Amino acid sequence: MDLKRYLQINQSLVEKTLAALLPGEHEPPQRLNQAIRHSLLGGGKRLRPVLVLACADAVGEIRERLLPFACGMECLHTYSLIHDDLPAMDNDDLRRGRPTCHKQFDEATAILAGDALLTFAFELASRPIQGVAPETVLLAVRQLAQDAGIFGMVGGQMMDLLAENRTVDMKELRGIHRLKTGALIRCACESGARLGGGSDGQIESLKNYGAAIGLAFQITDDLLDVTGDSRVMGKATGKDQINAKSTYPSLMGLDAARRLAEDQIDLALSHLDALPPSADPLRALARYITERTH
Ligand code: IPE
Ligand code: IPE
Ligand code: MG
Ligand code: MG
Ligand code: MG
Repeated sequence: MDLKRYLQINQSLVEKTLAALLPGEHEPPQRLNQAIRHSLLGGGKRLRPVLVLACADAVGEIRERLLPFACGMECLHTYSLIHDDLPAMDNDDLRRGRPTCHKQFDEATAILAGDALLTFAFELASRPIQGVAPETVLLAVRQLAQDAGIFGMVGGQMMDLLAENRTVDMKELRGIHRLKTGALIRCACESGARLGGGSDGQIESLKNYGAAIGLAFQITDDLLDVTGDSRVMGKATGKDQINAKSTYPSLMGLDAARRLAEDQIDLALSHLDALPPSADPLRALARYITERTH
């Protein structure tokens, strides 16, 4: 399994589809469309859409037809980054190796670009998918709404801000990570399995896989904020300490946080035990979550 090649092929598939689905930068309102394209088409690992496709691969054979849904997940994730970087939140100047949206444009444009990407995400996710029952698509869209909103990413981002400048316990920190980052990653896996035609058991396994890698992903993000190279990551490092964020490294130290992330990867892999060799990319992706350098 050549993960590098697998990632390249699928990232480029997602990027081509995104570029084709989005309004062109010369379409009005030009400033909005330029801001959206600036944030969405400038780099990014495309982890969530790749997970949608990889989970569909693990259980079925309709991956190309899931591309609009997968791209919807990337739009939603990018909206969360644009708003996360705003001065009122993490106040960051660099994202995906470029100036953040509000730096390149202005705050109002960045807020609107985020809003537009959030709604565009649902436009894409709710498109009919050939060979998939409309009720199944509806279920996936509803799940996405839950995982993006109050009981998912947005709720987690609120808790993350409220946890600044105070010490939280492990239980609370886990809850924050589960919502702010875990929910969308888990949703990508669950949706890929559901829309790919997986059985109830397979959907459950991939949901559990997603929950475990989702937690490991944010722990690794927090580790890289301490140990990573800003040039490689395309975003500033050391910001969590400046913003007095509650993170695993700050709570338990680097080594214990690393071990905890590794434990989650082992757990994730165990949820793939009953899946066929077509789940091999997911096995490699799980290891990549903690081994990555950006
Ligand atoms: C960054 O997400 C924000 C977190 C949820 C930790 P990614 O690390 O997936 O960012 P991109 O999409 O590759 O830029
Ligand atoms: C962001 O977490 C999670 C989101 C929902 C966007 P971080 O604030 O740690 O993400 P980075 O480090 O800015 O990418
Ligand atoms: Mg943040
Ligand atoms: Mg941030
Ligand atoms: Mg971070």
